[in-house]
Amino acid sequence: MAYQRITVSRFAGACGAEIEGVDLTRPLDDDTVAEIRRAIVENLCVFFRGQGGMTDADQARFARYFGAFGREPFVEGEETHPNVIAVVKEADEGGKPNFGGNWHSDWSFLETPPAFTFLRALELPPYGGDTMFASQYLAYESLSAGLRATLEGLNGVYSARRSYGPTGAFADNRNARSMKIRTGPEALEEVLHPIVRVHPESGRRALYANPAYTMRFENMSERESQPLLAYLFAQSVRPEFTCRFTWSAGALAMWDNRCVQHFAINDYGGFRREMRRSTIMGERPLSVGEARPMRAAE
Ligand code: SIN
Repeated sequence: MAYQRITVSRFAGACGAEIEGVDLTRPLDDDTVAEIRRAIVENLCVFFRGQGGMTDADQARFARYFGAFGREPFVEGEETHPNVIAVVKEADEGGKPNFGGNWHSDWSFLETPPAFTFLRALELPPYGGDTMFASQYLAYESLSAGLRATLEGLNGVYSARRSYGPTGAFADNRNARSMKIRTGPEALEEVLHPIVRVHPESGRRALYANPAYTMRFENMSERESQPLLAYLFAQSVRPEFTCRFTWSAGALAMWDNRCVQHFAINDYGGFRREMRRSTIMGERPLSVGEARPMRAAE
């Protein structure tokens, strides 16, 4: 069905579209919001360029059209808005890990991970600092029927410990030191999620396992889980499943964590990059078994 309110231009085979025709510094009408929601279901991640006048309050208002704010477990919100966090890397942090510099689905160690993330560019390096996205629908759909059936019965154990635990990457405060990150023992908590989740809006199945937060399979050790997880992590981000967004001043990205992973490329040492991020809460990920009765009842 054609769009009436917005222009949607797909730019990669797997996912990713640019949206024109909206000014995010102003409130949007219901029809425009409904079209943006349709565009993200169809394209998985969408991008709005030229939104340079946006404030944190504008970003928060736009995000809220899509649900309630999610929890930001290990990063403090901005004074201007508690649900907007600053993602910053200073020019002198060249060789250090950046925030988001590993393939992941946002906060997937939470019981109810975010459905949507919004990321807005405030200051960009002259080159580099792109963000990549990978379709987890295609990652799942291109597995063999046998492996798909096996994975549909498995849960993964998710935890934030490698990033935010007492000995995690960000516990070394030389890493991402320009960000307001907290680390601690609460990051050791573990949560179970299905390795194949069913998207509540599209009804499609997506692989849900990422190297940042998926520790192992339920009832298996990390050592036992590692070979199959390593295969799935590589499968998740095959080049033909990805798109790459090159930021421009005032651009805002919106992605659906229920069906994409993303990766912030750390290739701009010597330059500053500052972004603002907010998340909108999703539902507890549904397994294939849980989703079936729901879909039959529709
Ligand atoms: C993130 O993982 O949310 C950060 C992405 C980016 O900075 O490009």
